[in-house]
Amino acid sequence: MCGISAYIGFREAYPIVINGLKRLEYRGYDSAGIMIYDGKKMQLSKTKGKVSDLELITDEDEQRKIGTIGMGHTRWATHGVPNDVNSHPHFSESGELVIVHNGIIENYDTIKKELIKRGYTFKSDTDTEVLINLIEEVKKVEGCKLGKAVQLALNSVVGAYAISVFDKSKPNEIIVARLGSPIAIGIGKDSKEFFVASDASPFVEYTKDAIYLEDEEMAIIKIGKKVKVHKINDDSLVEPTVQKLKMSLDQIEKGGYDHFMIKEIHEQPKAITDTFRGRMLVDQSIIKMSSIEENIEKFLSADKIIIVACGTSWHAGLVAEYLIEDMARIPVEVEYASEFRYRNPIITNKDIVIAISQSGETADTLAAIKLAKSKGAFVYGVCNVVGSSIARETHSGAYTHAGPEIGVASTKAFTTQITVLTLIALKLGKANKSLSSHEFKNYLQKMQKIPRQVEKLLEVDDQVKEIASVYKDSKNCLYLGRGFNFPVALEGALKLKEISYIHAEGYPAAEMKHGPIALIDENMPIFVIATNKGHYEKVVSNIQEIKSRSGKIIAIVTEGDTQVKEIADHVIEIPETEEALTPLLTTIPFQLLSYHIAVMLEKNVDQPRNLAKSVTVE
Ligand code: M6R
Repeated sequence: MCGISAYIGFREAYPIVINGLKRLEYRGYDSAGIMIYDGKKMQLSKTKGKVSDLELITDEDEQRKIGTIGMGHTRWATHGVPNDVNSHPHFSESGELVIVHNGIIENYDTIKKELIKRGYTFKSDTDTEVLINLIEEVKKVEGCKLGKAVQLALNSVVGAYAISVFDKSKPNEIIVARLGSPIAIGIGKDSKEFFVASDASPFVEYTKDAIYLEDEEMAIIKIGKKVKVHKINDDSLVEPTVQKLKMSLDQIEKGGYDHFMIKEIHEQPKAITDTFRGRMLVDQSIIKMSSIEENIEKFLSADKIIIVACGTSWHAGLVAEYLIEDMARIPVEVEYASEFRYRNPIITNKDIVIAISQSGETADTLAAIKLAKSKGAFVYGVCNVVGSSIARETHSGAYTHAGPEIGVASTKAFTTQITVLTLIALKLGKANKSLSSHEFKNYLQKMQKIPRQVEKLLEVDDQVKEIASVYKDSKNCLYLGRGFNFPVALEGALKLKEISYIHAEGYPAAEMKHGPIALIDENMPIFVIATNKGHYEKVVSNIQEIKSRSGKIIAIVTEGDTQVKEIADHVIEIPETEEALTPLLTTIPFQLLSYHIAVMLEKNVDQPRNLAKSVTVE
């Protein structure tokens, strides 16, 4: 969490850094700060609140904005409450050095005590201020350059970091380093300018050339020089790979929508198409995925597949469990990455681990991957962000091609993850003959129709808005589904609670009578998925049970349904498809519903309280 944006070059740094911070606000938004160096002094502005609050401060004094070197930060608090003082950047004791940091220094307290003994004082409660003073102390004691001091200091800290450090006495360079938190360097024409950021979005309009630092690497960025990258724990030089960015500006802007979330909901037909394009060849009745083909023996002979993920990605993993077991008859277990990594799981080199992550930076998922690798398992990643830590850490994998997802609430990431996982399940099912050619072909044909069906389904927006207005003041909601749609119920509940702060729970419909039924009264809205092939009669009975206890029923049904229509208070129709593919459709009304309720309640849809888009701390 936390976003870093920095610039060194010939342009005014302020607008570049501030715009960069706005694009990175999805990473944290409880405080923001910026340092602009004007050639003589480092001008610091910082505040609790959002980047827009920071702008109110800098707008009071235009002088603060002048200078061609700048470093900014948008924070998601770990050490120290969100307030002005704890906001980054942080100066060292002498005021000569400045730092922005994303991550956690775990042994900061021990280091802080030692530094206090040596005469250092601390203004904030942050681990970051400890790190910059440690760098200053090392620089003083060793009499070395900034780069060396950063390296030595980092070798004595425990934790995770992406940092950017600037020394007033060396105003043509910035030092950056990474361990566990991402950092990208944008290279301007002829190395006359450089950009540093937590992802490439802040500099996409200035350059397409980027270096993504690997873990345990640091870079010395000097105007007019090639970026020098070396290892943190020794001095060995690394030849950095300069990647060509594919991201475009319109992908990271709202494009006429009020919020990123609704834009991303509407992008799903394209995102799903982009995800299966070139992989699903319906005419030839094949799925081409080299990452599976190259490892097909491993998949087919695996004792089991273990899926690790967090949040929405974990829900996609649950859908995959149903898909892979049903289509390919390979045993699947789905684990919260945070539990898996600490519970001494039974895992061998005959197991395959699939790690699912939109950001590719989730700390728990990353740790679960490392654990699985240490036990000899083959690890396959399903990620959205190209070049992310998880994409690099896994043995093989497939990207989801959803494009940048900026709203904190995952929408298109979920449906594109399910798309990739469906392709994998189908491919494995065909390879081990659990699916007949006829079944396989039928799935491909139905899958091909999904983007158009999602497009049509998005037309229920007005109807969903009306339902949202009826239930927006509810205190509690239940979401029920069975089979492939049980995870969709969980995801529906998560969407509602994370952006509207209404308590919601997802349950397998049949579990209702083992507890949640006690909650049902006339004030309880219950969202039920009752598609025509998925245990339909059983779900209808569940609906009857709710009705006889006066619960309000909002049902998602298949087009043409008559039975549920008679009992439910509201029905939303989805187009007909194979039951295994319905999660790609049933989830859409739930996304719209959460969105509209949150808007009606005037919540911050794209940046809900206490959350951050990528959770890079455990
Ligand atoms: O980037 P990841 O997919 O690894 O993120 C996992 C969760 O943090 C994420 O899905 C979270 O639950 C979303 N806010 C849900 O909308």
